Formats: sequence, structure tokens, C-alpha cells
Amino acid sequence: MESEEKDTKQNSEESNIKKESVSESESDSGGKLELAPLSRGAFMQTCFYGFAGAWGLMTLYPVCRYLTPAGGEDEKTVVESVTVCKADELPPGSGKNFKFGHKPALVTHTEDGQLHAFIAICTHLGCTVQFNNEKDLIWCACHGGAYDPSSGKNVQGPPPKPLAPLKVANVDGNIVVSRA
Ligand code: FES
Repeated sequence: MESEEKDTKQNSEESNIKKESVSESESDSGGKLELAPLSRGAFMQTCFYGFAGAWGLMTLYPVCRYLTPAGGEDEKTVVESVTVCKADELPPGSGKNFKFGHKPALVTHTEDGQLHAFIAICTHLGCTVQFNNEKDLIWCACHGGAYDPSSGKNVQGPPPKPLAPLKVANVDGNIVVSRA
């Protein structure tokens, strides 16, 4: 008696499993999976989370960029020396801007015949400085800051400290600037 009941129960479970597999294959009409229609609430919820995620990323990205240090020079921008020009292209009382890696730099040839080179980034707010031969100064046009063309010392205006120095030499008639 008990075993008959068990058999009956087992048979009904098997038939249920068969029905489910048949209904699944029917819904898979011709190999195409039919998706259930999205309710208005689910659609709105998806939109909300999508916009919230996008807004969060747009807000966090600039904050992260601001808080993360600018990072040092990467491998590609590390430069040990740069040949700026021929020595005769830079007469006494002149200066020339050039790129030292990714940074602006400046070489000056002062009236006493000496060569000097600096990173040409103003120590006030970071504008690029240039040699001004009328004033015989390294000049920052942003706020009227000025530096001595021999030492890079800040001598006028708001810059709080001297320009960062570089090494410079005349190598076989070429002006070569390297790290200090
Ligand atoms: S940035 Fe050069 S003087 Fe202000």
C-alpha cells in the first residue's frame, strides 16, 4: 500500500518535470528567446540607476583627478639632456625657450658670455616665462613677475621663489641642457 502511494507520488513529480520542460521549449519559439515585457516600474528603476551611476561617475572623476597627485614624469617624458640649438644662434643678451621633456625650459646667454638654463615655469602661478632682452630679465607676462637671467632668482613681482635650474654646456658648438 505504502509503496503504491510512493510510486504514484513519484509518477506525478516526473510528469510535472516533463510539463515544465515542454513549456520551456514552447517558450523558446524557434530558437529565439522571448523576453518578458518590462513593466513601467522596472523601466523607471533601470533608468534611475543608469542616470544615478552616470552622474556619480561624472562627479567623482574630477574629484579623484584633483585629489590624486599629478604624478611624476613617466618613462616616456623623462629626459636627461636636450640639444637646444647651435651656439651661434644664441648671441650674448638673448634667450631661447624650448621643451625639456614635457616641461617648458629656457636658456639664456647673458652679456658676460655665460650660459644659464632653467625650467621656464613661473613659481607664482605656473605661467611660462621668457627672456625679455629689452629689460634684460626673464619675464612672466601673467602678473609682471621677473627673474634674474643669470641666477633665475625672483627679483620683481609676485613670484615667491627662484626658477628651477638646469645644467647647460657648449658641446662642440651645440648648446646642450641637462638635469641639474
Ligand atoms: S604666474 Fe608668473 S607672475 Fe603670476
